[in-house]
Amino acid sequence: MADAKPFHWEYNPEPVAREVFRVEGGHALSGVVPISGAKNAALKMLAAATLTGERCRFTNVPEIEDVRVMADTLRDLGVVVDHPEANVYEVASGDVEWLFVPLEAAAKMRASFMLLGPLLTRFGRVIISNPGGDRIGRRPVDLHVEAMRALGASIDYRNGYYFATAPGRLRGGEIRFPFVSVMGTENAMLAATLAEGHTTIRPAAQEPEIDDLITFLQEMGAEVERTYPDTIEIEGRKRLRGAEHRVIPDRIEAGTFIIAGAVTGGRLTLQGASCDHLASFIETMDRVGVGVSCGSDAIEVDGSALLEGGYRAIDVETAPYPGLPTDLQPPTAVLLTQATGTSHVHEAIFEDRLEWLAEVRRMGARIDMADAHHATIEGPAQLIGAEVEIGDLRAGASLILAALAAQGTTVIHGAHHVHRGYENIERKFLDIGASLARSAEGTDVTPT
Ligand code: UD1
Repeated sequence: MADAKPFHWEYNPEPVAREVFRVEGGHALSGVVPISGAKNAALKMLAAATLTGERCRFTNVPEIEDVRVMADTLRDLGVVVDHPEANVYEVASGDVEWLFVPLEAAAKMRASFMLLGPLLTRFGRVIISNPGGDRIGRRPVDLHVEAMRALGASIDYRNGYYFATAPGRLRGGEIRFPFVSVMGTENAMLAATLAEGHTTIRPAAQEPEIDDLITFLQEMGAEVERTYPDTIEIEGRKRLRGAEHRVIPDRIEAGTFIIAGAVTGGRLTLQGASCDHLASFIETMDRVGVGVSCGSDAIEVDGSALLEGGYRAIDVETAPYPGLPTDLQPPTAVLLTQATGTSHVHEAIFEDRLEWLAEVRRMGARIDMADAHHATIEGPAQLIGAEVEIGDLRAGASLILAALAAQGTTVIHGAHHVHRGYENIERKFLDIGASLARSAEGTDVTPT
C-alpha cells in the first residue's frame, strides 16, 4: 500500500511549492482572452453531486487548484471523480465510505465546508472540520451551522470539528439569516433538497453562481426556486438523479481582465464573458472612464483613456450581489491608483481584504488605510517595479495587474496562491502581450 494516504486526525501541513512571478510592466495588452468557467459555481456543483448516487457530469469546469482540492477531498470520501478531459469532471457518489472531511481539506480551502449540507442531508451524519481551524471570528461558519439546526440537525463542536447528525431525514423549515451569506445560502439550499417538507431561505444571497447551482439542482430533479430576489424556496424530495451541466463564465476572472486592459491602456476582447452578471462593476468602470462594451458572447475593453490621463477618481463600496463584488475590490483599487484625484474604497464585506494594499504601496501607490474597511487612494501614481508578496488569491491577481501597470520589473512571491482560482493565468497574459514568467522560488527566470 505504498500510495495509501496516512490518516491524520492531527493535521500535518503539506509543504507548498512556492512560486514567483516576474513581471516587466509598461506594455499595453491587446488581443483575445478566453474566460473560463466560474470557480464559485463549479466548486458547489461538485459538492452538490454527492446528493445523488447517480453520475453527474460537468463541463466548462476551470482547471484550477481549488477544483483539484475539491476533487481530491471527494475521492478521499470514496466518491469516484473522473476527469476524462480538460474542463470536464464526472462525479459518482454511489459508495461514500467516509463521512469525514478532515482539516487537510479545510485548511486548503474554505469551500470544503460546502460538503456539510449535502452529506448531512443524504447520509444523516458527517464530521467536518471548521475551515477557520480554531480561528473563529475571522471567516466564521456560524450561519451554515445554524441553518442546519433550523432543519433539525444536532451539531456539536469539539476539537476544531463539527459533529453533525440528523436521525432520519432533515425537516424542512424557515431559515432566517441575520445577513446574506453566499455559501451559507448554498449549504442550506443543498441540505433542504432532500429534507422532508418545505424550506424557505431568507435573505438568500443573489449571486449568479447560486442561480447556476439552482439550475443544476433542478436538472437533478430537485424542487428549488428563487421565488423573490432574496428568497429561495425548496420542497424536499426523497431522491435526486444524476445530471449534466455547463458551468457559467467566471465574472470575477472577466472583471480582472477588464482591469488588465484598463491599467495598461490596452484593448482586449474577453471571449465567452457576459456583462449580465457584471452590471455594477461595469457601471464602476464607466464612472472611472474605462471603455467597456457588451456583446452577446464577449466583452470589449478599451483602456485608451489611460494614456490621455482620462481616468477619474471615484468612491466605491463593496456589497453583496447585485452590488460591487468584494472579489473585484482589489483589482478596482489597482485601477484607482491610475485615476486622477482622490478615491475612497469601502470594503464592507470582509475585514482582511485591504491588507494587501500595503504591497501596492511598496510599488509607489499613494494609499492611506484608515481602518480595516476604508482606504484612500491618491492618483495617478507612477507604479515602480518592486519585490512584493502575495497573501491570498484575489490580492495575487491584483498584484499582477499592478506589476503590468508599473515601470520596470516586479518580483511577486507567493504566486502559487493565484492558481487556486485562475485557470492558465500565465498563458492568458502572455497571449495578450504581457511580459511575465513564473518559476519556482529561488530560481531566476527572465520574463519573456
Ligand atoms: C463567497 C465566495 C467569495 C466571496 C464571498 C462574498 C465562494 C467559494 N466564495 O464566500 O469568493 O468573496 O462569497 O461574495 O463562493 N459570515 C459569517 N458567518 C458565516 C458565514 C459568513 O459571519 O457563517 C460573514 C463573513 O465573514 C463575511 C460575510 O458573512 O463577512 C459574507 O460572507 P459569505 O457571503 O458567507 O462569503 P463566502 O460564502 O464564504
